[in-house]
Amino acid sequence: MSSTSIAVVSGKGGVGKTTISANLSIALAEFGKKVTVLDADIEMANLEYHFGITAHTSLLDVLKGRAILQDAIYTPYEGLDLWVVPAGIELTKLKGINPDTLSDVIEYLTDSSHTDILIVDSPAGLNQNTVVAISACQNTLLVVNPEIPSLSDALKTRVVAEKLGSAILGVVVNRASRTKEELAPEEIETILEKKVMAVIPEEPRMKACVNYGIPLIKAYPDSPAAHAFKKLAADISGNEYKVPKPKVSIIDRFLRGILGRRS
Ligand SMILES: Nc1ncnc2c1ncn2[C@@H]1O[C@H](COP(=O)(O)OP(=O)(O)O)[C@@H](O)[C@H]1O
Ligand SMILES: [Mg+2]
Repeated sequence: MSSTSIAVVSGKGGVGKTTISANLSIALAEFGKKVTVLDADIEMANLEYHFGITAHTSLLDVLKGRAILQDAIYTPYEGLDLWVVPAGIELTKLKGINPDTLSDVIEYLTDSSHTDILIVDSPAGLNQNTVVAISACQNTLLVVNPEIPSLSDALKTRVVAEKLGSAILGVVVNRASRTKEELAPEEIETILEKKVMAVIPEEPRMKACVNYGIPLIKAYPDSPAAHAFKKLAADISGNEYKVPKPKVSIIDRFLRGILGRRS
C-alpha cells in the first residue's frame, strides 16, 4: 500500500476530531499499518492528553526551528507501529510560525518510510492551519455531530476541502444516540452529499478516557464505540471487521420502546 494522508476536520469545534484521530490511529495500527498521528491543532492542542503523553518536545518546537521532527515523535504503545506527534502547549505559540513549515512536516511524514497512513488532527473551522492541513493531505474525513449547526458548518468545510483538491473520504457521525430527535445517517448523507463511513455512538466513559490518558479503544475495547472505530479503520485500510451484535437486555428493549430509539 502506498502511503496516504487523512485530515480529520469539522466545521464546528468540539465534535470529536481529536477523540477520533486518537482511536482511529490505534485501530489502524492494530490492523498492522504503520501509522503516524499529528496534532495540527496548534491553538487547542490536546492530542497528547488523549494518549497520556507529557510532551517535552512537540510540533511547535519543530515549527519554531527549536527542534528536529524526530525529537517530537512519541511511541506510546509497545508492539504497535504508531507514532504520535503532539502539537505542544505554549501561550505565545503562534508567533513566528511560517505556515509552509506545517505543510512541509505533513509532506515529510507522509513520504516517510514509517508511514502507511498519516492522520492529521486538524483545527475546527477554516483558519490558516486548517487550510494548510487540508491542502497538504490527500484525503479529508469530515466529522459531524447529528445536529443541524454541526452540518451547516461541515458543509462549508466540505466545499473548501474540495476546492483545495483534497478528496472527501466520507463523513463520521460522532456522539450518536439514535434518538428520533437527532438527524439520521441518511439525512446527513443527503445534506452533505457524502457517504457516512461510520456512526460512533455517544459513550459516557469517553471523558474518563481523556482524563486518564487512555483512549477508549484501549480502555474499553469491547464498547460499541470501540467497535465502530475498528470498523472505520478496517474500511479505510482495506481489512475485514465484523462488528459483534450488541447484547440487548430486556431493560434496553423496554427503554427503546419508551424513548423511541432507533435500533
Ligand atoms: N463518542 C463520544 N461520546 C461521548 N463523548 C465524546 C465522544 N466523542 C467525543 N466526546 C467528548 O467530546 C469532547 C470534545 O471532543 P474532542 O475530540 O476534543 O473534539 P474536537 O477535537 O473536535 O474539538 C470531549 O470532552 C470528548 O471526551
Ligand atoms: Mg481537537
